[in-house]
Amino acid sequence: MNVDLYEKIWMRGVAALLVVFFAVTAYEAYSGSVQPPSHVETIDPTKAMGDARFQPLGVSVDASGHVHARLVGITFAWLPPAITVPAETPVTFHLTSTDVTHGFEIVRTNGQSMVVPGYISQFTTQFAAGEYLIACNEFCGIGHHTMAGKLTVVPASQWKAPGAAPTASADDGSRSSGNTMAMTSGAGDQP
Ligand code: CUA
Repeated sequence: MNVDLYEKIWMRGVAALLVVFFAVTAYEAYSGSVQPPSHVETIDPTKAMGDARFQPLGVSVDASGHVHARLVGITFAWLPPAITVPAETPVTFHLTSTDVTHGFEIVRTNGQSMVVPGYISQFTTQFAAGEYLIACNEFCGIGHHTMAGKLTVVPASQWKAPGAAPTASADDGSRSSGNTMAMTSGAGDQP
């Protein structure tokens, strides 16, 4: 088969580039232990709301004083829709979905994870004081753009650890109540 010289050069160049890209990806993954922020912990999505690992829903403090935030994504809300955590304090997020894949993104921070039904995603990070929008960055359906929550970060001295955090219910009231920071006003119009 007669292959043109320039075509040969391009084919070899593309093959070399692919080798370089795979090598860089492998190097980053193994040397830096880069992996999705998932715990590879499974959960029954249909029973996620009652699962012991999501009790209490929202913010709580464990026996060692570490702050945890447990949120469940449903179409189209984060439950609970608003949480408050102390500033400059590590917070471990535990996230799951009852239905489809959502994207948990605390806008303008490094707090971000895919939220996949059947799995518990987990990451730990901390924040400067302020108010942050929690958006969904994975297209999940017709109400995707209204799927928003609110993270309030207060100075640690002003923060009070919740006792038994109230468990948010999945009724329509709590679905729309957290959407005050959504970009549009259509929060109450979802089916
Ligand atoms: Cu949930 Cu997009």
